Amino acid sequence: MCGVVGYTGTKQASEWLLDGLQTLEYRGYDSAGIQVVSSSGNLHGVKCAGRVATLRERAHSANPVGTCGIGHTRWATHGAPTDGNAHPHLDGSGRIAVVHNGIIENYQKLKRELMAAGHTFLSDTDTEVIPHLIQEAWDGPAKGDLAAAVRNATDRLEGSWALAVICADCPGTLVVTRNGSPLVVASTPDGAYAASDVMPLASVTSHVLQLNDRDIATLTPDGAIRITDRDGRVVDHPTAIDIDWDASAAKLGGYSDFMAKEISEQPEAIERLLSGRLGKHGIELDELSLTREELASVDKVVIIACGTSYHVGLIAKAAIERWARVPVSVEYASEFNYTEEYLVTDHTMCVVITQSGETADTLTAARRMKGMGCNVFAITNVLGSTAARESDGTLYIQAGPEVAVASTKAYTAQMVGSYLLALRLALANGNMSRDEVEKHYRDLTQIPDIMREVLARRWQDKQAARLFRNQRSALFLGRNCNSTTAYEGALKLKEISYLHAEAYPAGEMKHGPIALIEGSFPVVAVVPADHVHDKTVSNIQECLARGAVVIGVATDGDERVAKLCSEVLWVPPVADELIFPAVAIIHLQLLARYVARDRGYDVDKPRNLAKSVTVE
Ligand code: F6R
Repeated sequence: MCGVVGYTGTKQASEWLLDGLQTLEYRGYDSAGIQVVSSSGNLHGVKCAGRVATLRERAHSANPVGTCGIGHTRWATHGAPTDGNAHPHLDGSGRIAVVHNGIIENYQKLKRELMAAGHTFLSDTDTEVIPHLIQEAWDGPAKGDLAAAVRNATDRLEGSWALAVICADCPGTLVVTRNGSPLVVASTPDGAYAASDVMPLASVTSHVLQLNDRDIATLTPDGAIRITDRDGRVVDHPTAIDIDWDASAAKLGGYSDFMAKEISEQPEAIERLLSGRLGKHGIELDELSLTREELASVDKVVIIACGTSYHVGLIAKAAIERWARVPVSVEYASEFNYTEEYLVTDHTMCVVITQSGETADTLTAARRMKGMGCNVFAITNVLGSTAARESDGTLYIQAGPEVAVASTKAYTAQMVGSYLLALRLALANGNMSRDEVEKHYRDLTQIPDIMREVLARRWQDKQAARLFRNQRSALFLGRNCNSTTAYEGALKLKEISYLHAEAYPAGEMKHGPIALIEGSFPVVAVVPADHVHDKTVSNIQECLARGAVVIGVATDGDERVAKLCSEVLWVPPVADELIFPAVAIIHLQLLARYVARDRGYDVDKPRNLAKSVTVE
């Protein structure tokens, strides 16, 4: 889950490399580095532990000169985040430099072999074997052909990688390749670019090429990109992606942090997603690769996801079971992958939910489901992502780039995307009439305005955040689909404020977690005006009886909740119980952000996390 960039062209490379790394910093931010090669073949590198801002300062004083270069921002897997373990890594002769995203699973064996052959290693990383392997090939069978040397070296690797490679002996040539980790390339009038995702490229082009696993691209300063496959055959028609958003979408645009910006963008994201979805066939979801008959015969849905996307899966289950009356299992991808026996029917449909489309566990699970004969439908945010490319059908939620590590707008957009799927299934299998589907669709179209209203009430979240001062732990409660709102609210709080936050279905509290409650302990209770309202109110009473301070998330006008709670985060009335989770979560996203900022933390880049979890 590191970020990789590369450039070769007519401009000095370091400025764009640094800007590109800044954009990719969400992928990892414990160390960073760049290496450029000058036209006369001098390699010049700068790298350090810490963020891209530190690297930028060092690079400005070191002033590396060269129009071809590579860069890296790291999320440590092998070796602590130190200057020495930061990428790029060089071969023994100091002529070949490599940046890498992924994990080389057989690096210990390779390192032993290389050391036995006289190679010396300077870092604790798995990556460092790669430049040494390239050097062996360069000096040996590849005979000075960098792409051939990279092909030869990667043939010996096991694991995942996105690599960018430069060599002092062929200045101006940049070679990139991938296997299991994302990488895109772009040709422009001022040179050729490579990056882990499209975001850094949005400032230079709107058209990028997606590399397939094991493809090797040779980029030259005239902007040319030559792609060959594992056997060295030229790839004529690589997959192209058009970037359909402005580069400014990945910039702060006046907000103090990306999390604030992305929370605010939710109404527009949902509007975009819903627009044009009601057509003559009911819900228009052409992204599905199943015919109406095939959809009608789906008798089981398996949802695979991780983290926040897993929480979307839990809500999707409620919607699909309620509207389409098809049984749904929701699986953590990391658990599913090691479940030995997994039962599917002949008509099981698999839905993978993944904002990034690159989460390693989710991709492995999706491949397994496909191998079991299931139709795989991806709900994702990232155009051309691996999940999208490998699935039978893909719904892009069009939320725009999500930069803050904590997912916010993708959560609600994926939820609404799954509602569209539920309605489509319900219509296809006859559990809902067209009129009913249309009514539910119209209810969904109210979400953006209700979200706007919740956003306008952010002062309530700011006020409630004060109740978390001097606290070390919190409990989140909710029932039915709002137990998921509680899980997601707790996840947001713990990941950015580092407060321990536990979430439970409210009725389960008495079976253990109630022991946590003592004087002034904060409890967040999600208690809309729904069919379990009275039950949840009783759980609030139980908390209060033990001295808890309760923050309610409730429907406007709820006097009972107002009387019981120290603070209430108010939500306007909703037309359907399934709409509440999509709008109430905004309060909990804002609450988590205010608590984290109160504590002085960087809400966009929480410690130990990365946006795209491309390792198992
Ligand atoms: C939490 C968060 C993570 C991701 C998880 C899966 O805020 O963002 O829990 O949801 O890593 O990521 P995707 O959805 O990209 O598969």
